[in-house]
Amino acid sequence: MTIDVAGLYERIEELAGVGRVPGVGLWRRPLTPAEAEAVRRVSAWMVAAGLEVRRDDAGNLFGRVGPAGPRVLVGSHLDSVKNGGAYDGVLGVLGPLAALDALRRQHGEPRRAVEIVAWTGEEGDRYPGFVGSRAFCGLLGAEDLDRRDEDGVPLRDALAAAGFDPAALPTEPPRDVTAYLELHIEQGRVLESRRRSVGVVEAIVGLRQFTLTVSGRADHAGTTPMDLRHDALRTAAEIVLAASRRVERAGAPAVLTCGRIEARPGAVNVVAAEARLTLDLRDADGPRLGSLAAEIESEARGLAARAGCALAWSTYHDTPPVRCDASLVELIERQGTALGMEPLRMVSGAGHDAQILAGIAPAAMLFVPSQDGRSHCPEEYTSPAMAGPGLAVLAASLRALAW
Ligand code: HGY
Ligand code: MN
Ligand code: MN
Repeated sequence: MTIDVAGLYERIEELAGVGRVPGVGLWRRPLTPAEAEAVRRVSAWMVAAGLEVRRDDAGNLFGRVGPAGPRVLVGSHLDSVKNGGAYDGVLGVLGPLAALDALRRQHGEPRRAVEIVAWTGEEGDRYPGFVGSRAFCGLLGAEDLDRRDEDGVPLRDALAAAGFDPAALPTEPPRDVTAYLELHIEQGRVLESRRRSVGVVEAIVGLRQFTLTVSGRADHAGTTPMDLRHDALRTAAEIVLAASRRVERAGAPAVLTCGRIEARPGAVNVVAAEARLTLDLRDADGPRLGSLAAEIESEARGLAARAGCALAWSTYHDTPPVRCDASLVELIERQGTALGMEPLRMVSGAGHDAQILAGIAPAAMLFVPSQDGRSHCPEEYTSPAMAGPGLAVLAASLRALAW
């Protein structure tokens, strides 16, 4: 069976040009014209492939083949991070489209429905992550819909403005998904360093993201003695350093990132009155993730108090770690072995929609290598040769599940 990898890469490269922002790079934010354009092109490719195409009221895009009844779901996302790469998510939507095309040419129509999905707002940019997959699983509640982006636009208004009806979102999970598969770039360096062509994900880390506001006092940078300052930016820096050191002591796979920090008024000769920052904490061990989060918050409050600053701490996103479905992991592993590969069982340090779907159906993921382990940056790259083996295993897994 031959998968048209060249054609797949032409489409990936075409989508890489959708949502480019001057001075920023690729930034395909959820429920924006850029994402809508990407969805429009993918829809057209799905229609051309003879799939039954629809969108739900969370903006998720579906392309289905096969009989009515239970379905195998396979997909990923089309939104990107700020200054993102061309493969994160996109390979997991267009790859199955190419695999499905090859399967149908070789084996005819599936005996069980296969549905390709592109989830809305996976990345957590603009609104807390996994918007579309959480909505699909009946997990998007009023509180989520009231969440505002940095321009004050509630998610429910962004959905309505994009032509969807937030009031029509499901409150219950669907019962007809027999399996969920997600093909994704690894976004790390394990496969490349271990010279393996395919990874099978056994578990996905949990992630907790926080937004902090440290409030101090603006003062003159020259005349204010160090011991009289309430320096919000210095306190924020101490919080980031203390939290990072704590997570380093805890050891892998725990990780912590401060991805954004802004100071007000932001002048070279003014002691910062306020600092706003984000923390992204991850671990595969749920209880340890919880205790690390509590310890970090407690230490941050102590540092702020010592500096005479106030600290506002809020949770932006909280998704627990999951284990992928053991029998689905074994099925994928068997296909890879049968194809002469040595699939490597792995833990995903990145979050994925699969960890939401795991709550309603057997879910598992397939990784392909990332060059130099880079992702969430323009250097993100997976060559056709690096993607080929994973695509073949995905096709074989879909065949085992639906033909
Ligand atoms: O942040 C993540 O791990 C994923 O790329 N959304
Ligand atoms: Mn992704
Ligand atoms: Mn990502």
